[in-house]
Amino acid sequence: MEAFRIVGGARLSGDVRVTGAKNSVLKLMAAALLAEGTTTLYEVPTILDVEYMAELLRRLGCEVVHDAEARSVAITVPAVPSHKADYDLVRKLRASINVLGPLLARCGEADVALPGGDNIGSRGLDMHVAGLERLGATVRSEHGYLIATRDDQLHGASVWLDFPSVGATENLLMAAVLAKGTTVIDNAAREPEICDICHMLVAMGAQIDGIGTSTLTIEGVDSLSPVEHTTVPDRLVAGTWAVAAVMTRGDITIQRARADHLEIALDKLVSAGATVDEVADGVRVRCADRPRAIDVVTLPYPGFPTDLQPQFIALNSIARGAAMVTENLFEARFRFVNEMVRLGADVRTDGHHAFVRGKEKLSGAPVEAADIRAGAGLVLAGLVAEGTTTVYEPHHVDRGYEGFIDDLVRLGADVSRVQVNQLA
Ligand code: EPU
Repeated sequence: MEAFRIVGGARLSGDVRVTGAKNSVLKLMAAALLAEGTTTLYEVPTILDVEYMAELLRRLGCEVVHDAEARSVAITVPAVPSHKADYDLVRKLRASINVLGPLLARCGEADVALPGGDNIGSRGLDMHVAGLERLGATVRSEHGYLIATRDDQLHGASVWLDFPSVGATENLLMAAVLAKGTTVIDNAAREPEICDICHMLVAMGAQIDGIGTSTLTIEGVDSLSPVEHTTVPDRLVAGTWAVAAVMTRGDITIQRARADHLEIALDKLVSAGATVDEVADGVRVRCADRPRAIDVVTLPYPGFPTDLQPQFIALNSIARGAAMVTENLFEARFRFVNEMVRLGADVRTDGHHAFVRGKEKLSGAPVEAADIRAGAGLVLAGLVAEGTTTVYEPHHVDRGYEGFIDDLVRLGADVSRVQVNQLA
């Protein structure tokens, strides 16, 4: 068993490079299923979730070659992929639900194991199902699988989402591009990762209007062609580095970071006392003094991202003053607060609000990462805690952050990956 061992106190400074977004590339890999032949993706991060998705596609009959050095993945899709996504992989990777739309469109049937809840909450699929049904699919749940079929072809329809769900928007989009006629998805999610998928689908031959807005209009086409596509930079990894710079009173240039994808988060950091500059190929974030506490409220894009909420709780825990953090997307994301309390943070939660009183110092302790972002938040807290912090279950962090420890070391942190039996 492994853990991250962090000795707090270092000021982080230097350059760090951000690769493609996890939450985009996994869906781009699923979208490759829509066209027979070889689709190649670039700026693919070497993270566990990409390996899981690659394995899932292999089981569906694709050939997948991940060249970590070139940061590319080549996916060769057969004329007729298989249509069953088994539980053993789906349970490791919730994004495997994103093969539902493309498989249904391509094969006429998709059997995808139900992913169940996870450490950040229940995460329903009702909007995925209702939307696909409007496009003419029949969807039933049987023996732990969601089984979607269509008679002849999916047909265009108007779909109103109750909430701008990222996953539902993606599944509907990937089904609608091969449906007969026009589909309108209203109240669609408009995250940069959704735009990235839309751009790749358009390059494949899809017809999509309204990219980047909450109304997507899709004119179905008969077939799509494979493409080469470069993944959008990971705004959540970039945002994590930005918070690290502020918490450690450091100076980090985040190469390839897109300031326009991080507007609210960077604005919050400026309010906390940071200096943020757009530079030639990225964003430079620095902070000379102890940051001020800052309120955040998570909302779908362009609101403040839930995936940066734990990092901002970590920041507030050492800030001057007190702040309210409100989580509107995933009810269980505050579980990580208990681990912050182990580090000496003063945080109280009430429903979906967390009230954080900043303290001068945190104190290093053993803690456990329950999900990717909680893990990142705990690492950031460890960087500023007195003494040693050990973050157990680091595989969660590995799911979303390529070479996190190596980058931290390069920036000056005293961090290492250790075997748990080395800890004594
Ligand atoms: N929801 C429903 N019914 C549905 C779909 C969603 O109730 O049919 C609810 C969920 O339960 C949740 C909320 O709507 O409370 C948001 O869900 P959404 O579908 O938008 O999220 P997702 O597609 O499951 C993706 C990212 C998450 C990120 C969210 C929100 C991937 C693989 N995951 O999840 O990323 O937090 O969007 O931006 O893209 C992470 O990277 O750490 C992560 C959890």
